[in-house]
Amino acid sequence: MIIPAVVLSSALLIGASGCKPKNAGDATGSDAAAKVYVPPGKYDEFYNFVSGGFSGQVSVYGVPSGRLLRVIPVFSVDPEKGWGFSEETKPMLNTSHGSVPWDDQHHLALSQTDGVIDGRWIFANANNTPRVARIDLTTFRTAEILEIPNTAGNHSSPFITENSEYVITGTRFSVPMDYEPGDVPIESYKKNFKGTVSFISVAPESGEMNVAFQLLLPGMNFDLSHTGKGPSSGWFFFSCYNSEQAHTLLEVNASKRDKDYILAVNWKKAEEYFKAGKGTKRPAKYAHNVYNDETHTATSTMNTEVTVMDVKDFPDIVYMIPCPKSPHGCDVDPTGEYIVGSGKLAALIPVFSFSKIQKAIADKDFDGDYEGIPVIKYEAALHGEVAKPGLGPLHTEFDDKGNAYTTFFISSEVVKWNVKNLNIIDRIPTYYSPGHLSIPGGDTKKPYGKYLIAYNKITKDRYLPTGPELSQSAQLIDISGEKMKLLADYPSIGEPHYAQSLPADLIKEKSVKIFKLDDNKHPYATKGEKESKVVRDGNKVHVYATMVRSHFSPDNIEGIKEGDEVYFHVTNLEQDWDVPHGFAIKGAINAELLVMPGETSTFKWIAAKPGIYPFYCTDFCSALHQEMSGYIRVSAKGSNVPIAFSLGKNSDPDAAAGTPTP
Ligand code: CUA
Repeated sequence: MIIPAVVLSSALLIGASGCKPKNAGDATGSDAAAKVYVPPGKYDEFYNFVSGGFSGQVSVYGVPSGRLLRVIPVFSVDPEKGWGFSEETKPMLNTSHGSVPWDDQHHLALSQTDGVIDGRWIFANANNTPRVARIDLTTFRTAEILEIPNTAGNHSSPFITENSEYVITGTRFSVPMDYEPGDVPIESYKKNFKGTVSFISVAPESGEMNVAFQLLLPGMNFDLSHTGKGPSSGWFFFSCYNSEQAHTLLEVNASKRDKDYILAVNWKKAEEYFKAGKGTKRPAKYAHNVYNDETHTATSTMNTEVTVMDVKDFPDIVYMIPCPKSPHGCDVDPTGEYIVGSGKLAALIPVFSFSKIQKAIADKDFDGDYEGIPVIKYEAALHGEVAKPGLGPLHTEFDDKGNAYTTFFISSEVVKWNVKNLNIIDRIPTYYSPGHLSIPGGDTKKPYGKYLIAYNKITKDRYLPTGPELSQSAQLIDISGEKMKLLADYPSIGEPHYAQSLPADLIKEKSVKIFKLDDNKHPYATKGEKESKVVRDGNKVHVYATMVRSHFSPDNIEGIKEGDEVYFHVTNLEQDWDVPHGFAIKGAINAELLVMPGETSTFKWIAAKPGIYPFYCTDFCSALHQEMSGYIRVSAKGSNVPIAFSLGKNSDPDAAAGTPTP
């Protein structure tokens, strides 16, 4: 059965060139420029958070301008911000595999209250070494990273419930569970490989995450998901592929069946069982890393246990709904009644009805089972199919007028259709081959249906050539009228997958401007220049340093010896917005630190050999930024140069010891 591969390869050609409109440059209307123009000094209307794919980070854009506002380091080290390089942030990248400096970041979920974006946090997945991060939207910093056990390829993640009770994740790769022998033949997939769906609880006030419980499922690939809302509140819908349970050449072997499944999960029921003490506690090892804004320090703890509930023992938690052709996106409309499945190789879009699904379950209108899970009859769950929408539907988001917008990778377009009557209303080409799309609030009860942003996989000829590697791109589309209008292109960081947006008003007033020095509880904080000092402790030396425009205290340090481990704990004494100072030393095998007002950060440096080492501030902080520097003297191992440190004790250049007087 080679057909799918053939379909795909010819389809790729279509995506790359066949659908290219002749006048791509004229595709925007003459009023497009005015619609995206945000005058200098004015703010954008929306924040747009975009996954960074293989960059491991999350980038933040203003919409409609497309201006890049910030790159938030999450799963990858970031020398620009000292993320993963300062002693305080190193624990954030800890995992059961040790420190991992990179990941592949695909999906984002803004926190919700009553199914509406509340602007508190945004959650991000790490696809490769399974983790979920929570980013605090007051600081735009990663506040927490939680590893997920019994998971491999955390792709179906993170998806949030209506009141942010849980962040839900599903494994992409089925594997033997961590608590069972992993050294098994790969061909024993059917017997030994399992899938899991994990429920990460989110504490209502602090947002702190914990793996509450996991559902053990048959081996297959879980792809994407969305929460129910309104009538489907308490349910979750996952797309699954590879129901063939192939473990080689998935391109062919996982595309054999006409239909795979959408897994419908009654999570309220699962939670009931969990709260009643059901499930089995299994040994596990997974890191939980939390950053504390008062100590400016992260801690990493290793968890050792997780509750696993085998769905075979809880038959009323999960059901399968057949879905054509390797489903990818699984999206629930704002009313909560309609669930849209998108088969990567399909030429139609099935839309399922939640009330029909409930009726089918009540009537046991099943078509056998899949590994013990009841399979609801396709027709019994179906609201209807969108006929001939395009080729290769991937993802759907919604506006506030009952319309759905679906990306088509193969035919390279976004198609607008009516959720109720399934009629196609409009289509617009994208350049080229879109993956995800994002409408502010477009997966919640309350979409802000003004803009749609398509994230394209291929950008051939859209930007000035930059060698073999081209930036991937976002395309901003106006969806305020009946017809969609292309407004602008802007390049993205890494590879964008899912993105989420929210009105700027939800968070801009809450944005932290400084860290209060008085509240700084870092154990090595130095809250005034007078307290700055250098303390030896065996071969470790702690430098309690301060930074203020435009000097360090101390800035002359002697008595460091070859082989010493020197910890520079630098506190930024500024209490004014937007005045960071940086710190770097010659020869250090480290990135710079960038320290925000009121914050303490620690730079570890091994004094490898005797000499004089300048250090300096890396951020242009004042007119005398270039003067913000100092010297460290490193002496031989056996030397008796005592620890000494000072600021402003300048010597008479002619009187200094050893200088011959003329
Ligand atoms: Cu401080 Cu430049």
